[in-house]
Amino acid sequence: MAEVDHRIATWISNNVLYIALALGLVWFLKKSLPNLRRRWFAYFMYMFTKEKDAKIEELKKDLFASMKDIVSQDPELRKQNSIRILEIGVGTGVNFSHYPDGSRLVVVDPNPHFKSYYNDNRKKFPNIQAEEILVTTGEKMDMVPDNSIDVVVMTLVLCSVTGTEEIMKEILRVLVPGGKFYFLEHIREFDSENHGTRQKIQDLLTRIGLWPFLFDGCCLNRDMLPVIEAAGFSKVNGERFYAPVNSFFFQLIKPHLKGTAEK
Ligand SMILES: C[S@@+](CC[C@H](N)C(=O)[O-])C[C@H]1O[C@@H](n2cnc3c(N)ncnc32)[C@H](O)[C@@H]1O
Repeated sequence: MAEVDHRIATWISNNVLYIALALGLVWFLKKSLPNLRRRWFAYFMYMFTKEKDAKIEELKKDLFASMKDIVSQDPELRKQNSIRILEIGVGTGVNFSHYPDGSRLVVVDPNPHFKSYYNDNRKKFPNIQAEEILVTTGEKMDMVPDNSIDVVVMTLVLCSVTGTEEIMKEILRVLVPGGKFYFLEHIREFDSENHGTRQKIQDLLTRIGLWPFLFDGCCLNRDMLPVIEAAGFSKVNGERFYAPVNSFFFQLIKPHLKGTAEK
């Protein structure tokens, strides 16, 4: 036993430099990996959304159509025929083209690496007054006052949110009475009889952590409708459907949920 201890001690003293370097590398990776992953994800989303898909745009046009009929509860904005919108998880800002002219846009996103893409994009929409990104999660929007927002929008966000119930509470807190929440999310396959294989792959890639690791915590196997329905909105209209995109990459995120909810 003493012989073994002696050999280990000798090996450590002979390799102390390499051990220190290896420990330093582990420490560095642990510290910088989350940041690198977030930077990669912001770049990925920028590339992924650079070319707009005509069918998805058509779908969003339909979903957001009723926004133009909303009248703000803020007397100042009402005079200007404008509404205040809060977009949670704004990313690069893919929904600008669907907002009514003159809208005031407050946006939050916890990933600061989206800022430059978002800022470049918002310059292309001078018809909307879009503010700087507030770097925070939808669960912690203390800087947004109670009953101050006419419309909340969230697209493809709930898949990576850890506190889904908290985010719903925050949406209800910031919305004015009667205010509207618009949502569009990819969800777990809902037809296990006909698309069981897709469902199994979604479960597997999420459970082993590969998909969440590559795509900033995104889970393929969630269904958010029950969470929205249980949140305490006065009305919820949700519909599960298949997104009209057939590319290979899209197959795993084809099952979607869209709808609106009213405070
Ligand atoms: C798949 S991207 C979607 C971006 C954009 N909404 C779109 O439709 O292209 C998910 C976005 O949600 C953001 N996000 C992740 N967790 C969040 C949270 N807890 N609260 C708010 N946003 C979050 C990410 O930083 C990212 O911008």
